[in-house]
Amino acid sequence: MGITGRLLPLLLLLLLVPAALRDYLSPPARTNRRPDHHDDASSVGVSGDVVLHPLVLVPGMTCSELEVRLTDAYHPSLPRCGAMKGKGWFGLWANCSDISTHHYLPCFMEQMSLVYDHAADDYRNIAGVETRVLNFGSSKGFQKNPNHTDWCFEVLRHELEKAGYVDGDTLFGAPYDLRHAPPVPGHKSAVFSGYFRRLSRLIEDVSKSKNNQKVILFGHSLGGMVALEFVRSTAMAWREKYIKHLVLVAPVPAEGFVKPVEYFVSGSDLLFVPGVEQLELILRPMWRTFESSIVNFPSPAVFGRSKPVVITRERNFTAGEMEELIAAVGYAAGVEPFRRRAVPKMNYFEAPMVPTTCINGVGNDTPEQLVYWDGDFDAEPEIVYGDGDEDINLVSMLAFDEKMRRQMEQNGVFYKSIKIPGARHGTVITEDWALKRVMQEILEANRI
Ligand SMILES: *[C@@H]1O[C@H](CO)[C@@H](O)[C@H](O)[C@H]1NC(C)=O
Ligand SMILES: *[C@@H]1O[C@H](CO)[C@@H](O)[C@H](O)[C@H]1NC(C)=O
Ligand SMILES: *[C@@H]1O[C@H](CO)[C@@H](O)[C@H](O)[C@H]1NC(C)=O
Repeated sequence: MGITGRLLPLLLLLLLVPAALRDYLSPPARTNRRPDHHDDASSVGVSGDVVLHPLVLVPGMTCSELEVRLTDAYHPSLPRCGAMKGKGWFGLWANCSDISTHHYLPCFMEQMSLVYDHAADDYRNIAGVETRVLNFGSSKGFQKNPNHTDWCFEVLRHELEKAGYVDGDTLFGAPYDLRHAPPVPGHKSAVFSGYFRRLSRLIEDVSKSKNNQKVILFGHSLGGMVALEFVRSTAMAWREKYIKHLVLVAPVPAEGFVKPVEYFVSGSDLLFVPGVEQLELILRPMWRTFESSIVNFPSPAVFGRSKPVVITRERNFTAGEMEELIAAVGYAAGVEPFRRRAVPKMNYFEAPMVPTTCINGVGNDTPEQLVYWDGDFDAEPEIVYGDGDEDINLVSMLAFDEKMRRQMEQNGVFYKSIKIPGARHGTVITEDWALKRVMQEILEANRI
């Protein structure tokens, strides 16, 4: 397609779009200056001649749908959990509104749980349980939580469509298995190797179908880490050929943060199942089996070896004592994979070496220390707050920024870091005013 062909819809769009959107699309003034790496809200603005590069969205943790198939090798702990044996694929973490009506919760937990295989140094499903991720490739196939319909890129996708993006043509989605985490070099993940192969094929195909245009990769939250690790896993020549820009919004940093410790100790409500009381505690045994539950614990390098992260009357646990904590809360099985896979990740840093924009919310109360004074890990902790986006601590964002900036600038690669005061971890891509800024950066990434 020629330039005119690409431009025309955009020009028409400019005439039709509502005022707010024109703000994204019309430039204050045309400038050839390469934008500075540092935040400067006034410097953004997208030229009228912007051409939309294809965009691939990598969602946050709970947004990918999983299907399951039970084979003869499955020996359910409750007979009714085997009811679907031999009957093909069905939804596991996908429209879970009927889990509780069918008393399927224990079965859901058993079939979602992972096992760490010591010999293989990898995670797998329990015997007889096969899983797959649904809707790979589509930006419309993310989980629709009935109680949180604004989660998972719904709102962002509508904004992107208003800006001219079209699902399946210029806009794509790359859901992944939320239970696993991308490994550092030297460690295996059969699941993530498969995902990375699929994602690179998607990007190659999309690029080919669009005159060899490069692709923008956008990741939010855990999806930010996934997108970053994906780029790092590719050969340099491949990156240069296919990746236009990496946009990371609230990416979970390898430096870790305190919130995952709270989720691990007390349980998480991220996997929301309607109609279940005390969801966190009930789902906790399942949650603790996920690699994604231990992969972002706070690192001693950033959180220190003297200030406690978890406080009890009997003893405290610093970031350097997370192994002891994992054992103390009663999940000794988590110690070895934590030591072998999560700890090396904290200390591994390699910048993606493609133009990158990183956006974080700051200025919100964010857990920094968890107090379980009576040592009762089933009770909700008292929380000491610090700065961050409600989930990710500011101190880890800054550590991430510093490493990125150092390595990227040394090599002359574009890096821009933006902190949005008051924007929160999840709502940075749903609340109008913050989303507007995210949209500006996506459109600017097209132009750079
Ligand atoms: C979820 O499943 C229920 C029951 O199977 C069905 O009534 C409902 O329409 C589904 N919701 C979505 C969003 O697919
Ligand atoms: C979730 O939504 C359903 C209706 O869609 C409602 O009955 C229920 O109370 C909600 N649960 C929570 C925890 O908000
Ligand atoms: C745990 O840390 C708190 C806060 O830093 C401190 O006051 C307390 O003395 C520590 N407790 C133990 C048992 O070390």
